[in-house]
Amino acid sequence: MDLIFQLEKLKEEALALISTAQSEKELEDLRVKFLGRKGEITMILRQIGKLSAEKKPIVGAKANEVRDWLETLIEDRLLRFKRSSFEEKLKSELVDITLPGRIPRRGRKHLITQTIEEIVDIFLSLGYWVAEGPEVETDYHNFTALNMPPHHPARSLWDTLYLKSPGEDLLLRTHTSPVQIRVMQKEKPPIFIVVPGKVYRRDVADSSHLPVFHQIEGLAVDEGITFADLKGTLEFFSQRMFGADKRVRFRPSYFPFTEPSAEVDVSCFCEGEGCRVCKGSGWLEILGAGMVDPNVFDEVGYNNEEYTGFAFGMGVERIAMLKYGVSDIRLFFDNDLRFLEQF
Ligand code: DAH
Repeated sequence: MDLIFQLEKLKEEALALISTAQSEKELEDLRVKFLGRKGEITMILRQIGKLSAEKKPIVGAKANEVRDWLETLIEDRLLRFKRSSFEEKLKSELVDITLPGRIPRRGRKHLITQTIEEIVDIFLSLGYWVAEGPEVETDYHNFTALNMPPHHPARSLWDTLYLKSPGEDLLLRTHTSPVQIRVMQKEKPPIFIVVPGKVYRRDVADSSHLPVFHQIEGLAVDEGITFADLKGTLEFFSQRMFGADKRVRFRPSYFPFTEPSAEVDVSCFCEGEGCRVCKGSGWLEILGAGMVDPNVFDEVGYNNEEYTGFAFGMGVERIAMLKYGVSDIRLFFDNDLRFLEQF
C-alpha cells in the first residue's frame, strides 16, 4: 500500500484514539503504539530507505510531519489530564479558613502544686529564696547532722523507710529538714530559704496519713535573729495564707534540731465557736518550728556565738485540707477529676 496513504490512515486512527483516551496511562500506551521503537510510525520510517530517489523526500517529509503532529497532540492531551487532576486535588484539599478553630482544653495545676506555689510566694515576698534537696537522703543529713546521732531515741519520732545500700546509709527522707544542712554546708549566712518537696514515712494510708506527702521547710540564719522574728514571720505567713483576721498561737514542743521548739496553731475559721475541723478547740495546728539548736550550727561549721536562726516545717496537704475544707488526704492522690476540677 502507498506509504502516504498509510500515513493518512494512521493519522485518522490516532486522532480518534487519542481524543477519546480516558487516562494518562492510556495516552502513554498510545505513545508507545505509534511512536515507540516498534511503533507504527517507526515502522513506516524504516521502509522509506527502500523507496525511489524521487519518493524518498516526499514520503520522508510527510512521515516526519505526522510524527511531530502526533507528539504534540499526545503532549497536549497529557497536559490537560495533569491540569485537571491538579484542580481536583486542590478542590478535595480545600481548607475552610473561615471555620472557627477548636479551642484546646486547658489543664490546671493540682491543688497541692497550687498550695506549694501560694506558700512559697508568700516567703519570696519576704526575701526568701527556694532551695531543694534529694529525696533519697543519707542517714547523716536526715538525722545525725540534725542533732540525732545514731541510736538517738528521737529518731523513732519518724517512721523511716531505709534503703538497702551497701557501704552507704541511705533512706527516703522523712522530712525536708536535711536540706537545711545541705544549704548551710554550702553557703554562709545570711540564709533565708524555703524548701518544698516530697517526704516519705512508713505509714499506712488513712484519712490523715499517707506514706508520701509534701512539706515546706523554712530556715532563717543571720546575726541577731530572735524568737520574736519567728513569731512575726509566722504570723505574717498565717494571715496571708488563711486571712488577715487570723491569730497564731505557739505551744511548747520538742524537735531535736530546735531549742526552744514550738507547735504553731492558727485560729480556726469557726472563729473560736468550735467546729468539727478544730474539734471544738478553736485552733488548727499548722506547723512545727523553733530556734535552730546550736549543735546544728556546730555541725555545719557556723559560729553559734555569732549567728542565731529559726526554722519551721509544715505539711502541704495539711495546710490545703485546712484552707479548702478537704476532709480526706487520700483525695489528693486519687486523681479523681470530680475532686481536682473544683480547684
Ligand atoms: N521536720 C519536722 C517534721 O517533719 C518539722 C519541723 C519542725 C521542721 C520544726 C523544722 C522545725 O524546721 O524547726 O516533723
